[in-house]
Amino acid sequence: MKTLLDQVNEGDLPRHIAIIMDGNGRWAKARGLPRTAGHQAGALAAERLIRFVGARISIPYITLFAFSSENWDRPQTEVSYLMNLLADFIRSKLAEFVEAGIQLRVIGDLGRVPDTLRQEVESAVAATAANDRLRLTIALSYGARQELAAAAQRIAREAAEGRLEPGQVDERAIADRLETSGIPDPDLVIRTSGEERLSNFLLWQAAYAELCFTDVLWPDFTPAELVRCVAIYQARQRRFGLVEEGAR
Ligand code: FPP
Repeated sequence: MKTLLDQVNEGDLPRHIAIIMDGNGRWAKARGLPRTAGHQAGALAAERLIRFVGARISIPYITLFAFSSENWDRPQTEVSYLMNLLADFIRSKLAEFVEAGIQLRVIGDLGRVPDTLRQEVESAVAATAANDRLRLTIALSYGARQELAAAAQRIAREAAEGRLEPGQVDERAIADRLETSGIPDPDLVIRTSGEERLSNFLLWQAAYAELCFTDVLWPDFTPAELVRCVAIYQARQRRFGLVEEGAR
């Protein structure tokens, strides 16, 4: 019997997939439902994806863009709904994460999120710190430019204090001061809902990532769609700015 994974080469899977989960609002609108119903369905899609990756496919790093720095400008009711949804999600999934060997990490400006959500994040991050089967990063109140500006501030401070020479500020020095330090760069970035932009997501880290844009709205995103994106990734030839092998 053919299984989903027959479509991909399991010896050449991306190590890190980062996903821009877009289209919750349109999914709800198409059903005459409030936008919040779209976010609720989006949380179920995230749960389905995490379960699949945690149990069925060897992809050790997943990053999900759950809330951007710019999303704070949405209507207050929607922002509060999303904050509560994320807190409920983390609280209700914690035991499963521990059981399944999933490590949770969060990147973004947690200083802006409500105390209840921050506390859920902090306890889940601490409770799963030793897990290593799947490292799940949730980008929350995250913006790549803000992350880069914060790294630049750290570098400037260290230089002003005499701990860093200007000549030492190389790519490694910058990467080490990003919130993703220790996480490999994404090999594949997926965006759902037909939009073809990075929207301030992992701008430094995705420099050489393959991009997969799918028309599927996030609440409809299934493991089969993930596998389809992985097959597209595998059909591409990553050259990292070099020439094709044998083409010298
Ligand atoms: C984009 O859809 C989605 C968001 C801003 C929120 C993403 C949040 C979730 C998927 C739910 C919870 C996530 C986790 C990890 C549990 P949109 O509202 O911009 O949709 P639209 O472009 O159709 O309006």
